[in-house]
Amino acid sequence: PAIAPMKPSNVVENSFVKALAESSTLNYVPSQFAFANDSRGSHSDSIPIVDFAHLVSGTPDQRTKVLRNLDKACREWGFFVLVNHGIPDTLLKAIIEASLEYFELPEEDKRRYEAKSASDPIKSGSGSVINTANHRVHLWRDFVKSYVHPQFHCPDKPHKLREVLAEFSEKTRSVARKLLQDIGENLGLEKGYMDEVLKLDSCFQLYAANYYPPCPQPDQAIGLPAHTDHGLLTFLIHNGVAGLQIQHNGEWFNTNSPQNSILVNTADHLEILSNGRYKSVRHRAVVNNEATRISVVMANGAAPDAIVEPAGPLVEQDGRAYYHPMKFIEYVETMLSNRLQGKSNLDCIK
Ligand code: SIN
Ligand code: FE2
Repeated sequence: PAIAPMKPSNVVENSFVKALAESSTLNYVPSQFAFANDSRGSHSDSIPIVDFAHLVSGTPDQRTKVLRNLDKACREWGFFVLVNHGIPDTLLKAIIEASLEYFELPEEDKRRYEAKSASDPIKSGSGSVINTANHRVHLWRDFVKSYVHPQFHCPDKPHKLREVLAEFSEKTRSVARKLLQDIGENLGLEKGYMDEVLKLDSCFQLYAANYYPPCPQPDQAIGLPAHTDHGLLTFLIHNGVAGLQIQHNGEWFNTNSPQNSILVNTADHLEILSNGRYKSVRHRAVVNNEATRISVVMANGAAPDAIVEPAGPLVEQDGRAYYHPMKFIEYVETMLSNRLQGKSNLDCIK
């Protein structure tokens, strides 16, 4: 269906999509959100599953098997579903709830964090991208982002967010570190290599929560267009409403996740470190017209001042480095301040 012309109404001026979506008469997508989009995804029952308990305390056989799964997942999909990760279900619920409460705050509380510069440690808003026709397109989602490690920042409200987020950051950090050590082993790197070159003691972590209200015309808007993430491994949980799609062999796949699992995707800095063996996966968030979707993301990276480059032993094997070195935080801030689609940053350092 064609997109209705923009109504002369002040709702579209609003920087939060939540309020727009809740305005009772909205039965179309205003033109500044129009994003040509085929949001359908295929289903796959072969999306890899990684059993974290087997990595940590499995028998040697179980460990060998799960290391192989992990390698295959990183190499062929850039994505896996992490189960038995040991992070309590109650904590996963609590961080989703506290994130939802954030979005339900009065607008003036959220406007305090409207971003002024890429390096602001806390940012909130709705956001837009420049599409291929060079038009600015607004996204059907509100977000809040906060740097949580090595320095911890957190919005003041809701009050319970601080404690829950600190715990979520700590627990995800330790799971990410263990996964990265095992990924190092899979890449044939020495024990301790990942910890040392990426300076994982002071690794960068960014919390992001996304709020996707029901959309009257889901095919005419997008929550988040296709992109890859900065960092090494991104963790994602959600409120049970589907919407994350990943690209695999040129096709879009819906991700399904068993209750209390964590969706993990490989990101740009793992692609760089592995000299292209593990590609950062393209993914996007589609919207629906039935239920509000909340996702909570923890992006796990290297230390802000770590120089990330292809690992020496892999460069030796390959005969050349496919990426240039770059300071971790510079990459992140360039990425957060550009609004291009796709792997634009990675392309710049190739
Ligand atoms: C993201 O890519 O950062 C979020 C995707 C989602 O909400 O599923
Ligand atoms: Fe992402």
